[in-house]
Amino acid sequence: MDPPGWPGVPYLEGTTVHRVPVAVDRDRRGPAGKESGGFLNPAMSGNRTRSVLMLNYLADSALEGVHRIQTIDSMCATGIRTRRWLNELPEKTASRLRVRMCDMNEVALEWARSNLTRDPLGHNVSLTQGDARRELLSQGWHWIDIDPYGSPMPFLDLAMQATARRAIVSMSATDTAALSGSSAGPLMRRYGARVWPDGLKHDSGLRVLLAAAATAAARHDRVITPLLSVWDSHHLRVTVLVDRSKSGANSHQESIGWRVANPSQEDVELAISAGLLPQHDNGSRPMHAMLPLNASPSGPGVSGPLWTGVVGDAGLMRSMSEEAASLIFASKNSTSNLDEERHARRAVRNIASEANAIHGAHLVVTDSLPGFLGGAGPPSPYSMAQGLRSMGFSAEVSRYGEPSFRSDAPWSTIVELYKNGA
Ligand SMILES: C[S@@+](CC[C@H](N)C(=O)[O-])C[C@H]1O[C@@H](n2cnc3c(N)ncnc32)[C@H](O)[C@@H]1O
Repeated sequence: MDPPGWPGVPYLEGTTVHRVPVAVDRDRRGPAGKESGGFLNPAMSGNRTRSVLMLNYLADSALEGVHRIQTIDSMCATGIRTRRWLNELPEKTASRLRVRMCDMNEVALEWARSNLTRDPLGHNVSLTQGDARRELLSQGWHWIDIDPYGSPMPFLDLAMQATARRAIVSMSATDTAALSGSSAGPLMRRYGARVWPDGLKHDSGLRVLLAAAATAAARHDRVITPLLSVWDSHHLRVTVLVDRSKSGANSHQESIGWRVANPSQEDVELAISAGLLPQHDNGSRPMHAMLPLNASPSGPGVSGPLWTGVVGDAGLMRSMSEEAASLIFASKNSTSNLDEERHARRAVRNIASEANAIHGAHLVVTDSLPGFLGGAGPPSPYSMAQGLRSMGFSAEVSRYGEPSFRSDAPWSTIVELYKNGA
């Protein structure tokens, strides 16, 4: 039976027409209220577009050979994420999904159920009204999506326990004030961490979340590999590959440590000896350096404990190009699809190119360079990246909340290029 108010009003996201009880402003940004039974936040559409593209790539790489991808959309609300998977993935991938949709909100689930009856692959989806924490533990999963209000921490241990031998876990966090260091109390209380609120605060927040995921995984003899880490206006989203591995779990702390702003010469030497800065940075003083966990630095400028390893997988990131986003729309042809295609391309902007430099030790917020090095004004991240590439280094404009680039070039070369007016 359809819910009161059905069929409501249509809402288009990607190529999926979804019915909701009241009209949704497609261009609204920021967090949504909790009050509406038919909860759907259009500001999360980019997050859902990336989720479609990730599943498209990972189904044939990390999850190759898994015939039925056991998936839980654990806080599904009206179910738009699952519906976008079913409708926008190639049929050969979408038909491998076996999805459990769960939400506490009965009204939202009723709308999800009625929407699904219109989907050719809707029969591969089951719905449960209840607490995601219980549902997560009901079986092993290959794909877990955690999309709560606020912090994902209450769900993290359960999710890690509930992964199949190999699985993907994607989690959103909307407690951005905590994770960017502006609310130090909740950050310490929830994540046991601190974040220095400078230009890299969003990157540090993502890394604090990754460290929390790595630690939760290790408690259950699992190890994570970050696949994609994105800060998108009012929320963060990290996606990790989770493998069962006692030895990996034992060594997880090798990828957890600290970030210090304005490091001393001693800090730089320690970072180099720990493999957290390349040897070629010897003798220079970068704007930031990572230190190993046992360094336990104190005082201002310190963020952590946080993930000190690479925050994305180059192969996955490369697959998430604007062209790949456009392919979702290849068979559809309408004016509204043109707008949606524009949204989808924006959702992945710079991700594929940044793959070339994701291994680089330096993420440089260009607005911070004049304050740190002197000079007239901030350089363009595009010309800095281009200049470094012309010298043979990997360097790309970063998909980050501030104008920035990522590079594996020596810090001394970055400084020289800046001073020569890139
Ligand atoms: C941010 S919304 C999810 C949005 C949805 N994933 C989407 O893409 O449209 C958070 C949802 O989590 C649900 N929720 C919160 N705590 C929950 C819990 N412990 N178990 C199940 N659902 C929960 C809320 O009812 C709400 O629908």
